[in-house]
Amino acid sequence: MIWASGWKLASAVSNAGGLGIIGAGSMYPDVLREHIQKCKAATAMPFAVNLPLLYPDIDQLIQIIIEEKVPIVFTSAGNPKTWTATLKENGITVVHVVSSSKFAKKSEEAGCDAVVAEGFEAGGHNGREETTTMVLIPAVVTSVNIPVIAAGGIATGSQMAAAFALGAEGVQVGSRFVASEEASSHINFKHAVIATTEGDTVLTMKQLTPVRLIKNQFYQQVSAAEQRCATPEELKQILGRARAKKGMFEGELEEGELEIGQVSALLKEILPAATIVADMWSEFRETCERMGGLFLPRQAGT
Ligand SMILES: Cc1cc2nc3c(=O)[nH]c(=O)nc-3n(C[C@H](O)[C@H](O)[C@H](O)COP(=O)(O)O)c2cc1C
Repeated sequence: MIWASGWKLASAVSNAGGLGIIGAGSMYPDVLREHIQKCKAATAMPFAVNLPLLYPDIDQLIQIIIEEKVPIVFTSAGNPKTWTATLKENGITVVHVVSSSKFAKKSEEAGCDAVVAEGFEAGGHNGREETTTMVLIPAVVTSVNIPVIAAGGIATGSQMAAAFALGAEGVQVGSRFVASEEASSHINFKHAVIATTEGDTVLTMKQLTPVRLIKNQFYQQVSAAEQRCATPEELKQILGRARAKKGMFEGELEEGELEIGQVSALLKEILPAATIVADMWSEFRETCERMGGLFLPRQAGT
């Protein structure tokens, strides 16, 4: 996640038993290399890098990922055909993020090992079609033969169990980790996240690149422009440069862009990443037990 998941968060998640992901989308190439090296020093467990494919320095970032022997790459925002073969030739597992069955099929055709199916609830950039996680996951699961990782609106163990019930084989959790101690997001943003209630986020800027964010003054400007049918160029001007950095990294809560998912309404505390992972696991187990042992690993001899 841009402006949230650097080496500290990624290594903390991996050390806790999840797969930590470094968000390369807000990093210059030399910064990404530094984060990968620090992550390797902080964890012996596997971790991944998320790479938005429309990034201007994409070829340099890919080179660094290969040189640093990152084992898993999550690609997003772009055509999976462009880089999947190169990454796989270098022994890297490739997972592409999609918001529809159509793009899940394209990812499978491009040779991806798995897809993240990300529903309408999710924070950050998202699909235009507004397909919710509840509908998207079974649709994608029946469309492809590769594993499906569910994303969008998952922050608790019971939500994780629901995703498994829909056929997912893993979950990608974003917003919950923005409000973690190790996230590089500004503390003002973390506090804004845990203060949100239902209805405080919205999927906007569908004419440019749709993004779910908190309804602050920046959003009001975007919304007013959209209501007077502003052109994409006008919207780009409002967006200006570095609005996301201003909001999420520098903590400017009204002038900045604050990307977060609907699930922020359920978050009440900023916690260490290890506590978040442990809480999710124990609630997942409790939920499965309540539902008659569904998804729990079988004990030997049973
Ligand atoms: C602040 C923020 C930044 C994000 N940045 C990226 C990104 O750079 N690349 C990407 O593929 N997804 C990004 N996402 C989406 C997450 O990876 C994840 O799929 C999503 O947050 C899951 O939904 P949830 O927010 O309901 O947990 C971002 C999400 C947030 C909240």
